[in-house]
Amino acid sequence: MTEVIKIKKKIIENNNLKELMEEEAIKRGAELLKQGEIVAFPTETVYGLGADATNAAAVKKIFTAKGRPQDNPLIIHIAERNQLKTLSDREIANDVLNLISKFWPGPLTVVISKNKKIPAVTTAGLDTVAVRMPSHPVALALLKLSSLPVAAPSANSSGYPSPTRAEHVYEDLKGKVPLIIDGGQCSVGVESTVITVKNNKIEVLRPGGISPERLAEVPGYSVYFIDGKYKNSSPPSPGMKYRHYSPRTPLILVDRKQLDKIDDLLKDYTNPVFLITEETKKTGIISSSKNIIELGSRKNLKQIAYKLFDLLREIDKSDYDLIIAEKLPENGLGKAIMNRLHRASIKKHIN
Ligand code: TXA
Ligand code: MG
Repeated sequence: MTEVIKIKKKIIENNNLKELMEEEAIKRGAELLKQGEIVAFPTETVYGLGADATNAAAVKKIFTAKGRPQDNPLIIHIAERNQLKTLSDREIANDVLNLISKFWPGPLTVVISKNKKIPAVTTAGLDTVAVRMPSHPVALALLKLSSLPVAAPSANSSGYPSPTRAEHVYEDLKGKVPLIIDGGQCSVGVESTVITVKNNKIEVLRPGGISPERLAEVPGYSVYFIDGKYKNSSPPSPGMKYRHYSPRTPLILVDRKQLDKIDDLLKDYTNPVFLITEETKKTGIISSSKNIIELGSRKNLKQIAYKLFDLLREIDKSDYDLIIAEKLPENGLGKAIMNRLHRASIKKHIN
């Protein structure tokens, strides 16, 4: 049995943690977490599927419910900065603390060394742990009331697009999770940025809700990417090696200038759909007799990130047999959006 409890929009907007902690959904959620159960809850990025990070049996339930590979470690969510001390015995370096003070609460996850209180299942046997403080009031209230560090991957079936609405979680996990806290649609829409920091060098393991430009703006730091380099060896962020975020409908990525040159490819499909920007639609390069779904403006990548996973799930509900997605600029949130689209795609890009 899966119970879905909605929290009123107005109460979320009030952003008063004390008031939220009085909500039935939060009280039930905190109780379940303390009992070693799993709970789905909203964050500003995507919905998470949480369990007490220090309880191995509880964390195992996450892997089972999602069908997640055991070697993919989880992110631990905290509500207070001093909880870091309970996760790591080493002093947190100043270059990490400085970034945390700028971006927490928010979609930035830092990888730090872990202590023995965190069981191996949470970090997939790694001696490091990924930690973030979400900014969604519902997530913060749940974390605060439970007083637990909460391990939470995205609350989707493993491999499927991440859930940005409670309905998505229900579609994937009904019957597998006792409680889904419905806090409306997630405002960012793509997951957090996962980084390691050493001597003021930031390595982005997964691009996400905090853009590389925003990280690079912090005085004294340099930003590097590792994507693409670890295809055949052991990646520093194990999640990178899996095909991910994929709708069931095959998706190909095409440069917008090539969109009218793929007739050969389309011959194999009966009902393809073009997922393109407002600007590209206006050019008329795709005949209006074709199936077109608008992503939004190339100039508003924030809006595209907000809608992306929801659109991919919607497309899967129709009977399209191919998604032709327009490649997007990789500045700002574009880096995270293109990372998700690349990993959702069958590897047939048209440049
Ligand atoms: O926005 C988010 O980050 C969402 C919400 C729920 O907070 N969570 C999320 O979790 O996206 P998940 O499990 O879907 O992705 C976690 C990512 C994976 O790519 C994983 O490999 C990486 O973080 N990760 C976790 N622990 C790590 C570690 N110790 N070292 C390197 N990468 C790690
Ligand atoms: Mg995920």
